[in-house]
Amino acid sequence: MLSLTNKRILLGVTGGIAAYKCAELTRLFIKAGAEVRVAMTKAATEFITPLTMQALSGNRVHLDLLDTEAEAAMGHIELARWADLVLIAPATADFIARMTHGQADDILSTLVLATSAPVAVAPAMNQGMWSDVATQSNLSALRERHYHIFGPDTGEQACGDVGPGRMMEPEQLLQECAGLFETGHLAGLKFVITGGPTREALDPVRFISNHSSGKMAYALAAEAAVAGAQVILVSGPVHLPTPNGVTRIDVESAIEMLQATLDNIQAADAFIGVAAVADYRPQQFSAEKIKKSSDQIELSLVKNPDIISEIAKLKQRPLVVGFAAETNNIVQNGREKLKNKKLDLLFANNATETFDSDTISVTVISPDAEDELPTANKNVVARKLLQLISERLNNRQ
Ligand code: C5P
Repeated sequence: MLSLTNKRILLGVTGGIAAYKCAELTRLFIKAGAEVRVAMTKAATEFITPLTMQALSGNRVHLDLLDTEAEAAMGHIELARWADLVLIAPATADFIARMTHGQADDILSTLVLATSAPVAVAPAMNQGMWSDVATQSNLSALRERHYHIFGPDTGEQACGDVGPGRMMEPEQLLQECAGLFETGHLAGLKFVITGGPTREALDPVRFISNHSSGKMAYALAAEAAVAGAQVILVSGPVHLPTPNGVTRIDVESAIEMLQATLDNIQAADAFIGVAAVADYRPQQFSAEKIKKSSDQIELSLVKNPDIISEIAKLKQRPLVVGFAAETNNIVQNGREKLKNKKLDLLFANNATETFDSDTISVTVISPDAEDELPTANKNVVARKLLQLISERLNNRQ
């Protein structure tokens, strides 16, 4: 079966008779492992009900740009960033024309404009409308902008005509969409990734920790698994499901994280330290809950091991990749960390904007270059970062 494991598909439905096929398409996407959210134009709701699409996708359908309730749940910009792929199916001649001109006068056209994810279009219309020079010129413009055009098929049409303009069948669309993600470029490689925060216990009920959500590490682990790697994710306490195909080892403290990493690092091709490891831990663990008897208490802290540096010191070291969440002088501080920790690559980002966010902007720092990536969904960024890691691994061999 084709895999769309962990992929987030935003399905845009416009007003054509082929809209009824979206029910089947949604079912196939979900069966292939994708998460689906649906946005419909007003005309689309004349052909298929939002309730059908809600029931099949398991998510509320987005219908109106100016619906305050829907915007509060997941606003259109958030939705545009959420997507790994936007698929417009069916795409009418009118919607294609509006996309070409960058209009943003309803929820769907706005999403297409706002997203940084790939956009695919499955045209469906009467054969005369399809062949018209206006439609063809619009499609050429979309192709030039790297939109993917799937179909249309040729055959009998709902209006009785025969010719090109039938929407591609759902099975075929599923294959085309899966093909956009299929790379397998990490097949045969082993990745060890740390993620999330660590907790440094003071007593049985209290600990020192930080705001790390684990989202970036989990996105990297998910994407590496999809790209064919064997992935071991050593995770601090987070509220995230384990991505498909990933082996997750749960730990609490930095010492436990180091041990679990060392236990699993053998034969690893790459180590990515994404965890926000606590730099210090309490010198003493109180076996009993600390009482609030005095007005002031002092905590004595000792330094935690630096996990990534320990991995970089190994004789048979994998490619070692770090993350640095900085609040100021992002590039300069990042470059110092790259040098001090002897890393091959470091991804630096702004600590103030990333903790629980679904998006991230990253500067890639290597010994010889710097490259700033545009802000995007963590999954999209993860794919890009894995591509860079893959290139480095290839150069090493
Ligand atoms: O906290 P810091 O900015 O030094 O983190 C930079 C990199 O070092 C990150 O990749 C982080 O996962 C790693 N690190 C580590 N062990 C520590 C502290 C940081 O592996 N004790």
